[in-house]
Amino acid sequence: MNWKSILDKAYTPYSKSPKACVVESEKGNLYVGVRVENISYPITISAIQAACSICLSEGEIPSKVYVQNQPLSQFHFWVHEFNLEVIETEGLPNKPTANLLHTLNPDMNVSQHLKDLLGQAVVPNSDFPVSCLLFTENGYFEGVNVEVSDWSQGLCAERVAISKAIAAGFRSFTGIEVHTKKGEVSSPCGACRQVIAEHLPYNNITLHHSDDTVSEHITIDLLPLNFKSSILQK
Ligand code: THU
Repeated sequence: MNWKSILDKAYTPYSKSPKACVVESEKGNLYVGVRVENISYPITISAIQAACSICLSEGEIPSKVYVQNQPLSQFHFWVHEFNLEVIETEGLPNKPTANLLHTLNPDMNVSQHLKDLLGQAVVPNSDFPVSCLLFTENGYFEGVNVEVSDWSQGLCAERVAISKAIAAGFRSFTGIEVHTKKGEVSSPCGACRQVIAEHLPYNNITLHHSDDTVSEHITIDLLPLNFKSSILQK
């Protein structure tokens, strides 16, 4: 792992200014986070928010952060939140990062898997766990929602899964499935719809509702007339 290889995975079509960092958990596992911009700029996921949220979503506690000599958005919040040791370095640890891509199994019971995944959500504020599976041609990524002391810094299950996949180098997806057992329906929030519209514009989205019914949609139908402007693309 080196900085170029992870910076190359950042999704920054609007700023052309890639950002990345690596979070080491208390157990010593490494999680990469990259900046994931959105055409609606304020919805952008910062590299450190992504790395810490991914680490938390895997049931781990962030302990150290490896950064290059360049400013990262939201840096101070996350360093303070987990009392992170900051390691500014041009060389990254010489060991593999956690593998978050799961192998596709045609016999997989997606509903059950989503139910089981709810237990991994980090929901001290809401007690409202949400789970998500994001599919690619090579396998799938799991997501659960993650909450921290500042509500605005947490991430929804859908955006955790998308952050993981992008940091792992994936740019194209085949579908997404979402579940919560506490809502009247399982359905992505507006901010997630905006991010889903950018990365999975014409894909299937399957919603697993609390009464065990399932509804299938095309992502674009969940955000009609979505915000677009080619002049924002650098
Ligand atoms: N949440 C999701 O994970 N996905 C959504 O699309 C809706 C909202 C989470 C965020 C927060 O942790 C909790 O549900 C309440 O908003």
